[in-house]
Amino acid sequence: MTTPTPGLAARYYTDGEVFAAEMDQVFARSWVMVGHVSQVAEPGTVITARVGDESVLVANDAGELRAMFNVCQHRGHELVAAETARLDRITCPYHAWTYGLDGRLLHARGEDVGDVCVPGVRLETLGGFVFVNLAAGAAGLGATAPGVNDELLARVPDAPRRVLSARRTHEVRANWKVVVENYNECYHCPNVHKWFTSGVVAPGSYRIASGGSVIRHAADRPGQPPAWTGDGGDSTGTGAPEATGTGNGADAGSRTGGRAGDGYRAFFVWPVSAIQSYPGQVVNTFRWVPLAVDRTLLIREWWFDTPDLTEAQSRLVSDDWENTVAEDFGIVESVQRGVASRGYTPGPLIEDPSGVCGVHSENSVRHLQDLLLESLGGAG
Ligand code: FES
Ligand SMILES: [Fe+2]
Repeated sequence: MTTPTPGLAARYYTDGEVFAAEMDQVFARSWVMVGHVSQVAEPGTVITARVGDESVLVANDAGELRAMFNVCQHRGHELVAAETARLDRITCPYHAWTYGLDGRLLHARGEDVGDVCVPGVRLETLGGFVFVNLAAGAAGLGATAPGVNDELLARVPDAPRRVLSARRTHEVRANWKVVVENYNECYHCPNVHKWFTSGVVAPGSYRIASGGSVIRHAADRPGQPPAWTGDGGDSTGTGAPEATGTGNGADAGSRTGGRAGDGYRAFFVWPVSAIQSYPGQVVNTFRWVPLAVDRTLLIREWWFDTPDLTEAQSRLVSDDWENTVAEDFGIVESVQRGVASRGYTPGPLIEDPSGVCGVHSENSVRHLQDLLLESLGGAG
């Protein structure tokens, strides 16, 4: 091991001034996932999402996707309150100024107020997932996450045609970096996640590769094929029939995810987005929303080929939520209390000098902390 060097100072997780700086220097300049193209596939469909301390809306304007700030240009009311909507035009709930789905003001209740337009926001897609960036001058998503689109599509070719099948949310009392660092290391996996390290991945094979804004996770499937794949060894009693339940030979298994032999992959895109592919072409995502210096909303979404879950999929979603995701809630909240303690001095991160980051090292945590310090310009 290299000379141990300590992790980030505690104030980065507890100081409201750091949090405010992050809103400007991280969240207002980074690509953040807000949904999937299937949610805005029809003209007139709209989704909203929080990006840092802003609300953004994405609208299908006659076939073209447009993202814009979710803010009325009259006196600032949010234009669309719901997370999803179907609209011909956008009428502000406050004084009924009305905009087209391209953000242009159509009328202000008969007053001539000149040309008014809601400021646009950059939008790009990656494997069918919609990302936005508030900074006009930021590098494109392809340059920010090079190769990820192709790697995801090589594993899950129909990712852009998936639909939202399940969604769970939970607010944790922890700083967003505590949550994201926890997600991006598997040093804690053998100790904390028994179901994940026996049912989803072979822990000895777990590898995390950090580069630029992307952290890639890869692991082999466990020796026993995961139950939901219907790839032999099925213990759900439902996997095998559902694996062929589409009646489409070429696509057999897509409803439960197909073969189990393709292991686990995850693509984390700094700062708060992740797309995972579980064995069997199962796709799920995390979006983490920083609400306050010590509060983070976690959004876990599952993307199958129909909105309705099969029984096996439903069990997978529940198992994953209860036996992996929820196991981290208490962990991150305890860490948040700990880093706020007078008794805490940051300990060394366990870094493998070879750069290989598996279940015995935290190189990826160092990478995340370096990204943060770089974004804050060494200040904060
Ligand atoms: S704030 Fe939107 S119409 Fe007044
Ligand atoms: Fe975890």
